[in-house]
Amino acid sequence: MKVVIASDHGGVHIRKEIMSLLEEMKVEYVDLGCECEGSVDYPDYAVPAAEMVVKGEVDRGILICGTGIGMSISANKVKGIRCALVHDVFSAKETRKHNNTNMLAMGERVIGGGLAKEIVKTWLTTDFEGGRHANRINKIAEYENK
Ligand code: RB5
Repeated sequence: MKVVIASDHGGVHIRKEIMSLLEEMKVEYVDLGCECEGSVDYPDYAVPAAEMVVKGEVDRGILICGTGIGMSISANKVKGIRCALVHDVFSAKETRKHNNTNMLAMGERVIGGGLAKEIVKTWLTTDFEGGRHANRINKIAEYENK
């Protein structure tokens, strides 16, 4: 498992906590920043991270901004990305089991580092169930490929 992680200025603290968690979990990661003091634009981080996922350079991606919303909207514009905005452990589990999400977005102004790390642990260790859920994902891909 190799992941890409990125944040804007609104998500730097939790990004750093998650990088420590990934090290503890021995999950390899690529950090795309930001190393910012000032304000940056979240699509400049979400889109390159999402492109790494669809190109197969990494298996999955984790994005953090103030709310997680800008990051998730941006990532979901990249063909092949299924990015879930998640702020609870139940949804982290379900979105892997049912949606086979390949990216996770969270908001540092919404949740604390402790919960964010539990979400990441759950999201990284839960498998897709396939079956009827695969049919639904295939329908999204069909629309995307029209
Ligand atoms: C930045 O102020 C903030 O808008 C951004 O981090 C994010 O919350 C956008 O969705």
